[in-house]
Amino acid sequence: MEFLDMLLLLLATIFLPLGFRRWFTTIKGPKNLPPGPPGWPIVGYLFHFILQRRPFVYVIRDLRKIYGPIFTIQMGQKTFVILTDAKLIHEALVQRGTLFANRPDESPTRWIFSFGKCDINSAKYGPLWRALRRNFTTELVGSARVKQCGWVRKWALENHMGRVKEEAQEKGYVEVMSQCRLTICSILICLCFGAKLSDEYAKNIDSVFKEVLRMPLPKLPDFLPILTPLVARGQLRRAKELRRKQMEIIGPLVQARKAFVESGENPKSSSLHMESPVGAAYVDSLFSLDIPERPGGLGEEALVTLCSEVINGGTDTSATVVEWALFHLVLDQRAQHELYKEIVEVVGENGVVTEDDLEKMPFLNAIIKETLRRHPPTHLLLSHAATEDAVLGGYTIPKDANLEIYTPWVTQDPALWTDPEEFQPERFLPGGEGYEVDWTGNRGVRMIPFGAGRRICPAWSLGIVHVGLLLARMVHAFKWVPFPGSQPDPTETFAFTMVMKNPLKAVILPRS
Ligand code: HEM
Repeated sequence: MEFLDMLLLLLATIFLPLGFRRWFTTIKGPKNLPPGPPGWPIVGYLFHFILQRRPFVYVIRDLRKIYGPIFTIQMGQKTFVILTDAKLIHEALVQRGTLFANRPDESPTRWIFSFGKCDINSAKYGPLWRALRRNFTTELVGSARVKQCGWVRKWALENHMGRVKEEAQEKGYVEVMSQCRLTICSILICLCFGAKLSDEYAKNIDSVFKEVLRMPLPKLPDFLPILTPLVARGQLRRAKELRRKQMEIIGPLVQARKAFVESGENPKSSSLHMESPVGAAYVDSLFSLDIPERPGGLGEEALVTLCSEVINGGTDTSATVVEWALFHLVLDQRAQHELYKEIVEVVGENGVVTEDDLEKMPFLNAIIKETLRRHPPTHLLLSHAATEDAVLGGYTIPKDANLEIYTPWVTQDPALWTDPEEFQPERFLPGGEGYEVDWTGNRGVRMIPFGAGRRICPAWSLGIVHVGLLLARMVHAFKWVPFPGSQPDPTETFAFTMVMKNPLKAVILPRS
């Protein structure tokens, strides 16, 4: 409640003397916003939101039932326009994608972690975003690079299988999420810097990054920026402290790689051993990237920021998909056995699944798609914004509003999917209703786990490779069954992605 007390006090002292004039300019205008829940003068729906004490995404989920395909939530000085309908989402992201490809202004906290919007996900739609995204696409996820870096996944997956076995021996079960996070995080670090890190080092990075992901969740001054100087000092201090930790843990990797690139060999003084040849790590491309707005090149802070978005963007998302997929396979032994049979048909009982094998496994791909449909890892895309005031669905979308795309309704809408609550991978096999569905949303929106249009996740195919390899290797090596003391529980919770509230614990049995 201390938040509320503070809010009331501040409102009384700061806003009320300004009277209704300010209210009329900030809350009422501009005209013709989509409908939405009523709020109070000045603060709009903010009190209601704070009193509910739950993540924004749950509030949206409930308001959708009342307000439907497009609605507005006015919170303090910020206007949120929410889209939940497949057709409107397609219109905004694809048909008129350029108009809605911007990102809104950053909160003060996010500004610190994005180093003033110097990364792909937060950059305004313009030359900086274009240059960074083009470089990312060629240097990190281009097919040549993915092939060249196959050894990274091979190394990380061998480690993964070893750790899984060890954990099962020690505890009697495997905690799927934490193991998968660590493996994916290690792969992404190695793709960025070309070095194999110890599990210990990767775990430290992962835990700092977990904090980073949670830190920029919206706080009071994000809705009432006018309060920032009064109430945000402690919050900004904590954000700067965490940013310092992030610099301390990633900075040395940037420096070690730079020394390696400049000298062409591993410096004797460094404990980090570079494995990728010069030019093969993502950060190598950033050292010399020519960006018109940054005439001096990208400094260390920018490099840390850009590599951090790779680790942040790819770890939670992919690990969440693996955990939900395995949750269903543990409960549905028939589907798990189908998958096992398919893997054995492709690589044999004793072979090793590689990334080239994945496209020969339609049932595995159907399981991944059904998992993304049934459990989209992010229920909201990253916030979009219009580049200028625009009209959508007959309403005005002001250019300074946050345009939020709520994705779960698209895949829960019974008008679009049969028995949407059921987990049925077969719907993505030939003849099934999902077989022809374009999950990038280009040809129409039936599911958009990666967004769609200009801002679609640029690494979606890499994410799918990581998910596919993890699932195939784990199911090939072991039969996964529920841990007797902890029955798999489908309750979700919001932790940047929508994860299992009680992380999946499963017993592994060797395949005979
Ligand atoms: C299953 C795995 C993944 C899922 C479900 C996923 C999902 C998403 C979503 C929903 C967005 C927002 C799209 C929008 O705002 O319209 C996004 C953006 C982004 N993702 Fe992913 N992602 C995954 C894997 C990855 C990986 C592995 C990386 C990095 C290697 C990555 C890097 C990014 C970046 C840089 C953006 C920002 C794009 C932009 O603003 O132009 N993602 N992702």
